[in-house]
Amino acid sequence: MNNRFFITTAIDYANGLPHIGHALEKIGADTIARYRRHRGDSVHFLMGMDEHGLKIAQSAAAAGVSPIEWTTRLAGEWRAAWQLLDISYDDFIRTTEPRHAVGVYEMIRRIRENGDLYQATYAGFYCVGCEAYKSEDDLVDGHCPEHPSREIQWLEEENWFFRLSAYRDRLRALVTESDFVRPESRRNEVLRMIDEIKDISVSRAGLKWGIRWPDEPETAVYVWLDALTNYLSATGFPAEGYERLWPADLHVVGKDIIRFHCVYWPAMLMSAGVETPRGVWAHGWMTMSGGKISKSEGGTIGIPAAVERHGADAFRYFVLREVPWDSDGNFSWDRLAERDTSELANDLGNLANRTLSMIHRYRGGVVPEAPATTELDQIAKETVEKYLERMDRLALHEAAAAVFELVSRANSFVESRAPWKLARDPANAGSLDETLASLARALGVVSGLLHPFMPGRMGELWTSLGTSETIPPFEDLASLDLTGRTVSMGAVLFPRPELAK
Ligand code: MSP
Repeated sequence: MNNRFFITTAIDYANGLPHIGHALEKIGADTIARYRRHRGDSVHFLMGMDEHGLKIAQSAAAAGVSPIEWTTRLAGEWRAAWQLLDISYDDFIRTTEPRHAVGVYEMIRRIRENGDLYQATYAGFYCVGCEAYKSEDDLVDGHCPEHPSREIQWLEEENWFFRLSAYRDRLRALVTESDFVRPESRRNEVLRMIDEIKDISVSRAGLKWGIRWPDEPETAVYVWLDALTNYLSATGFPAEGYERLWPADLHVVGKDIIRFHCVYWPAMLMSAGVETPRGVWAHGWMTMSGGKISKSEGGTIGIPAAVERHGADAFRYFVLREVPWDSDGNFSWDRLAERDTSELANDLGNLANRTLSMIHRYRGGVVPEAPATTELDQIAKETVEKYLERMDRLALHEAAAAVFELVSRANSFVESRAPWKLARDPANAGSLDETLASLARALGVVSGLLHPFMPGRMGELWTSLGTSETIPPFEDLASLDLTGRTVSMGAVLFPRPELAK
């Protein structure tokens, strides 16, 4: 039976256009989703937009349109950006949709019924950039460290509070006794947050743009209670059958929002009597010149610009290879051009071009028959194992590196076997067959394993090996047999960047 695998990304604030920092998260989640689909899981991949809250109301006002016009326009632009990057989500939820409000009301009803809501005065700071309540200790020079260019607000309002502190022990147990927080390196940070837990305000008095608090038309639901519930409302909660998807297997989010996902969210679910998600993956930040790429702090690159120079596949590969999936990494055009030239055009592109053209030249375009016994076949088998182990622990950058190690070993294999010399003497026909068949297999393995990273070009590479079937399961790639296939030359898959548009 297939495993169900429900994966989500953070829903993005509809207050501007997506940049390459947002793209890192979506490309990583998409690569995991594609990987799991190919392993036979029944994957449900959810993305969406976070459309309520003061920050969005302010950006709509600055643009001179109503909030809903603003967020509808932006939701269209964000979806178009994800399409440019080949992101294969199955559902896209907007928090302004009716199906979402139903879920939020049910969460509030259950939390209240459980005795975890009470009224009190919130007097303290609020960062509109984070949409979060802040203590004096959180500030640096009187500003939120993540939004230094924004003025911090002082609030004094009568709000509804959620009894978060009642969940300290259960949260502790969740974090220490399971894989709930990954990578493991983030666990202590979450445990510290749990130790310092206080009740939180979950409503905003007088805020016009947001889901109305039950029976209080002047009060909005706090945007994080609203936003976090998207993962659940997208399953149809509370309607019957929502458990076909819930609990989520993996929430992929940035390290800046783990407090909300690893502390607030599981506690709210516990209070509402809903199962907690199986895990949260906190990825790091994409930086530029060392600083986080951020809309509010300026200096961003949009998605159309990101894919224009090198194409979506090269960009996808680049970010996942360059930014370790469990920590930060820097973006620069130079590094992108460098990897595109050396790894994609030179290493992989050359391997593909010369393998295919030698099969044409020496064997009429047909992959010869030869047992899989060369040193390259052995390395290819080991690569499949390494790749699976690394992908399963979500070390995406290491998995990609393993495949490129195979690429470089395959190029050395070409050099050492020198098929052009073998071809001169018919006595070496067997050895030439063995070399070409082995290279074709290695290319098949490479295109299969890299397919989740570069679905476009790896799909083409796979097809150029003359196989009309879809890529077999990863494990079966290790015993791939391409005998008798007619390979095609096709277009140059990896043009050198300076020749590209
Ligand atoms: N709306 C909230 C999330 C609500 S989830 C219930 C939010 N939105 S955001 O637009 O600010 O960020 C969306 C995601 O993009 C977050 O996971 C965030 O960490 C990620 N990133 C934004 N800038 C980033 C980088 N420069 N690098 C990597 N990820 C970054 O937070």
